[in-house]
Amino acid sequence: MRYLVTGGAGFVGSHTVLALLDGGHEVEVLDNLSTGHRAAVPGGTKLHVVDLLDRDATDAVVGSRAWDGVLHFAALSLVGDSMRDPFHYLRQNYLTALNLIQSCVGHGVRKLVFSSTAALFGGPDRLEPIPETAPLLPGSPYGESKMLIERVLHWADAIGGLRSACLRYFNAAGADPQGRAGEDHRPETHLVPLTIDAMLGRRPPLRLFGDDYPTRDGSCIRDYIHVTDLADAHLRALAQIDGRSLAYNVGNGLGYSNLEVIAAVERVSGRKVPWEPAPRRDGDPAMLVADATTLRRETGWTPAYADLESIVRTALAWREAHPEGYAACGAPAEAGFAIG
Ligand SMILES: NC(=O)c1ccc[n+]([C@@H]2O[C@H](COP(=O)([O-])OP(=O)(O)OC[C@H]3O[C@@H](n4cnc5c(N)ncnc54)[C@H](O)[C@@H]3O)[C@@H](O)[C@H]2O)c1
Repeated sequence: MRYLVTGGAGFVGSHTVLALLDGGHEVEVLDNLSTGHRAAVPGGTKLHVVDLLDRDATDAVVGSRAWDGVLHFAALSLVGDSMRDPFHYLRQNYLTALNLIQSCVGHGVRKLVFSSTAALFGGPDRLEPIPETAPLLPGSPYGESKMLIERVLHWADAIGGLRSACLRYFNAAGADPQGRAGEDHRPETHLVPLTIDAMLGRRPPLRLFGDDYPTRDGSCIRDYIHVTDLADAHLRALAQIDGRSLAYNVGNGLGYSNLEVIAAVERVSGRKVPWEPAPRRDGDPAMLVADATTLRRETGWTPAYADLESIVRTALAWREAHPEGYAACGAPAEAGFAIG
């Protein structure tokens, strides 16, 4: 099969590209490299350096081949930034998806997997996993932009015949177990790489926001899903699209507290993580975990790296092998083919 992956130079997208290639599929990547890395695109894989805001360039790529499906990862995804600059986020995420989806419908693409977010559910005040049936009440312009895109996909199905699967998840973490890819966000905002970098002395002591939550150890509980398991979920959702559109939560079912993440990094590395307590942040719920029962039941998805040790071990291995992230890597992606 032949697939187009938008945002394939980014963290989740690049791991999904690897999973597709491992499955014997043909893959091309569309990415403007705004937060992604050319070196994250595997050698020999065609990279279209295109901004999805450019409608004509996007349409040219979508129309350039007969795609068996499109996987859409490209987006801005920092919740805090979206609170500071809501219109930028809404424009970037919504208009880019609109351009892509319109081109998919126009060129007869039949399947699209959309990397949505569990931020659609806002910050529910609950100490149990969030089911798919929970009300969609995004608590940020970022979450709102993803909800708008899910609505566009509804109409693209109803009127344009484009079937889709929307995947809603919280924190992607870890790195390719074979060491071929890893996490390199700039700035980094995710707890696992931040904790590893604090342990390695590459940044100041970690600040632990809040220690009086009604959780087992007082720190916040979050859902960490190994990026390779997440890539597998995208592929299974793609295979599951057949005659109807779908929406799944993706989560490993095991929330981990901030203190448990620190302890796991110390266990795996054998070194102390310097950290200091800090006040709660506004709007941080005690627990955010997605209930993935439907995905498991309908697609057979089972996370292979659900335990925190596997997540930390792979993330640490990649970080130690790439202290400067992708900055020090060459450019393995097939050269050229830049539109816009
Ligand atoms: N990382 C997580 O924990 C997480 C959690 C939930 C949802 N998501 C969603 O998964 C997707 C991927 O997240 P990520 O962590 O890999 O982010 P990332 O920033 O690493 O990857 C995003 C990619 O999209 C590209 N891109 C951004 N805007 C573009 C545009 N206008 N045109 C073309 N390319 C563009 C970037 O260059 C980058 O390569 C996002 O849609 C995000 O909202 C991520």
